[in-house]
Amino acid sequence: MLTNKNILLGVSGSIASYKSASLIRLLVKAGANVRVVMTKEACNFITPLTLSTLSKNPVLSTYFDPETGTWNNHVELGAWADLMIIAPASANTLAKLANGLCDNLLSAVYLSLKCPVYFAPAMDLDMWKHPATQKNIASLLSFGNILIQPGNGELASGLYGEGRMEEPETIVDILIDGLKKKLSLKGKKALVTAGPTYEAIDPVRFIGNHSSGKMGFAIAEELAALGASVILITGPTTLKTNHSGIKRIDINSAEDMLEAALTYFAESDLSILSAAVADYRPKEVSINKIKKDNSELKIDLVKTPDILATLGKLKSDRQILVGFALETDNEEDNAVKKLKNKNLDFIVLNSLRDKGAGFKNDYNKITIIDRELNKEAFELKPKALVAADICKKALDLLR
Ligand code: CTP
Repeated sequence: MLTNKNILLGVSGSIASYKSASLIRLLVKAGANVRVVMTKEACNFITPLTLSTLSKNPVLSTYFDPETGTWNNHVELGAWADLMIIAPASANTLAKLANGLCDNLLSAVYLSLKCPVYFAPAMDLDMWKHPATQKNIASLLSFGNILIQPGNGELASGLYGEGRMEEPETIVDILIDGLKKKLSLKGKKALVTAGPTYEAIDPVRFIGNHSSGKMGFAIAEELAALGASVILITGPTTLKTNHSGIKRIDINSAEDMLEAALTYFAESDLSILSAAVADYRPKEVSINKIKKDNSELKIDLVKTPDILATLGKLKSDRQILVGFALETDNEEDNAVKKLKNKNLDFIVLNSLRDKGAGFKNDYNKITIIDRELNKEAFELKPKALVAADICKKALDLLR
């Protein structure tokens, strides 16, 4: 998988940079072309000579090399790379990358990249746990970068905890898995709906729900990581996604969501509808803000279109259609009814009786039920991992 791949290794200042030497050896052995960009501080931990000898390429650490009189072009390096791995990624470098600083060659190259970027943090446990670092990690993940989680163990400080850079062998396995993964949905088109819908009552009020959109965004990101080009139709949410494989369409109401879904459904190989669509909307939308008086206010509601059922009627045999069911009782029976009525390939059941599952949470607990009524119940896990389970099932069916 790594033969002839152009891999850019970014090394920042951390004692873990001694592991960069082994990482380069493994990458070169696997057939990759490796070029190394180091920060000034990294050069204090391990010499550029060591890394250039192992990578068989000059190591770059400044924009300008006074000895050769050459300008180290960050844009050219960015265009050359098939993937970049920053290992070790220090807290300082993570902060720079998360905030778009480019005061050294490594961060300037990062800003110029179009390829996947992996980062393997290494730092002391308190630095790792600090909300500032965690916020930077969340930003980098939202840009579509891939975190190689640091391990638990003895740290250079003598303390024991999380913050150890992952071992080079494991990093290479993760890169290979990533490349394999990226091929699995290459050339496929996917449609995802996410978040709530807002049904207007008047110019300032609406009927909505507590959906955060987290599950749908995690699914869109997983599908994009698998190589699909994704249309993400989302209701109002504060979430951001910057994955280059995702085209985001923001809508408000169920009607808008249906219109957008119908625009893209015919060409979509796989559609996963996770949005919490309002089932009813006000019959009339007041043009002016409704003023209160002493009487009761009654609002007539009419049904919104069922987007999932509409797509189920249009679906061809080559298309996979997936829906969600959020239930509080008779969960499996209700989910199976929806699966059949809406002509789905499988349904993802959330039970509100499961602690930690459902709206707003970062975790979810699901059961997948398919047309043959095979049932698979999963553990409570982070939504990114739940998304991976859902996409794996879809991938199996597409094959
Ligand atoms: N859905 C949709 N359009 C709607 C309502 C729901 O596309 N107007 C989709 C949701 O995105 C989800 C699935 O249908 O994938 C199930 O939604 P849910 O509200 O649980 O089911 P309903 O069919 O609306 O049934 P009920 O509210 O009675 O449980």
